[in-house]
Amino acid sequence: MALGSRHLLGLENVSATDIAVLLDTAESLVEVSRREVKKLPTLRGKTVVNLFVENSTRTRTSFEIAAKRLSADAVNISTSASSMTKGETLEDTARNLAAMAPDCIVVRHPASGAARFLAGVVDCSIINAGDGSHEHPTQALLDLLTIRQRMNPPGGGGGRDWKDLVVTIVGDILHSRVARSNLYGLRTLGAKIRLCGPPTLLPEEFRSFGAELYYDVGEAVKGADVIMMLRIQHERQMGNFFPSLNEYSRYYCLTADVVAKASPDVIILHPGPLNRGIEIASEVADGPYSVIMSQVANGVALRMAVLYQLIVPGADGIRGSEVSRTAVTAADTRAQAEGGDEVRTALRPAAPR
Ligand code: CP
Repeated sequence: MALGSRHLLGLENVSATDIAVLLDTAESLVEVSRREVKKLPTLRGKTVVNLFVENSTRTRTSFEIAAKRLSADAVNISTSASSMTKGETLEDTARNLAAMAPDCIVVRHPASGAARFLAGVVDCSIINAGDGSHEHPTQALLDLLTIRQRMNPPGGGGGRDWKDLVVTIVGDILHSRVARSNLYGLRTLGAKIRLCGPPTLLPEEFRSFGAELYYDVGEAVKGADVIMMLRIQHERQMGNFFPSLNEYSRYYCLTADVVAKASPDVIILHPGPLNRGIEIASEVADGPYSVIMSQVANGVALRMAVLYQLIVPGADGIRGSEVSRTAVTAADTRAQAEGGDEVRTALRPAAPR
C-alpha cells in the first residue's frame, strides 16, 4: 500500500496476492448475510466512522451493515449534519473524530486525494469510499468478486483464468473513479481491458493502462465476457463533453441489440446509481445477463473483508497473502475462544484458486 498497510486508499499499488486475499475473505463472509442471525463477534469493541462528504446509497449503507455484521460500533456522519456546514475544514473534522479513538474512518469526498490526505493526519485506518474522480477501491473489489464468482464459481468446475477474460468498460471513463480502480485491479490480475466512450470522455492517455480504446460500443463489446457500464457523471463534468443526453444515449446506451454482440454468457455490471435509458436500457439492467444486484449484495461481504483485514490486530493490513492468511486464522481462533463458535467457518479462507 502506498501509505502503509493500515489503509486502503486505492488499488493502484495493491498486488494480485492481496486482491486474492481480500476476495477469498469476502467469499468466506458471503454466507453470513444469508443466515437468520447475520452477526459475527469479530470486531466487537471496535469503532468505525463513516464520514461521507458526498451523497451515497450503496457504499455508505453497506459499510454500516458490514461493520454491524462484524459487531463493530458504526457511526455515520454526513456533511449536512456536521460542523462542516459551519466552515470546519476536513482536516479539523478528521482530527476531532480521531480524538474520539475510532479504529477506522471510511471517507467519501468530492476531492481527489482526500483519503490520502486524511491518512497523513490521523492515526487510525482510512478507507477510501470514493474520492473525486480518483479511485473507489471497494467498488472495484466487489466488481472483481462478482466477476470471479461467475467465471469460477466456488465448488464448481471449469474455472477460467483472468488472462482469458475480455472486460469492456463503457461510458464516462475520464471522470470515473470506478473505472480507474477497476483498471488498476484488472491490469494487476491480467484481464484484457477494452475502454469505450466518446473521444472527449476517453483520452488517448488511457492506453497507458494497457487498455484498447474504442469509440463504437458495438465493436467494443464484440465477444466480451464482461460489460461494465458507467454512469454519466453530471456533477464531475465541468464542460460540454457531448451535445446532449439524447445524443449520448443514441450512440452509447447498452441495449439488448448491443448485448447480442457479446459472448453468449456475458455478464453486465453497473456500479449504480443507474441512469435508465441513458447509459443502460431497463431491459438490459433488469435482464438475464445483469449481475447488478449481485454486485450490491457482494458489497457487504467485501466491505466486511476489508474492515476485518485492516482493523483486526495481527492481520497486518492487506500486505502479503501469507501474512494475511495467517492473521485470518489467528484472529479467527481468538474470536472463537471468546465465544464466536461460527467465526472460524465464516472466515476460513477459500481454497487456493
Ligand atoms: N456505487 C456507488 O458508489 O454507489 P453510491 O454512490 O450509492 O455509494
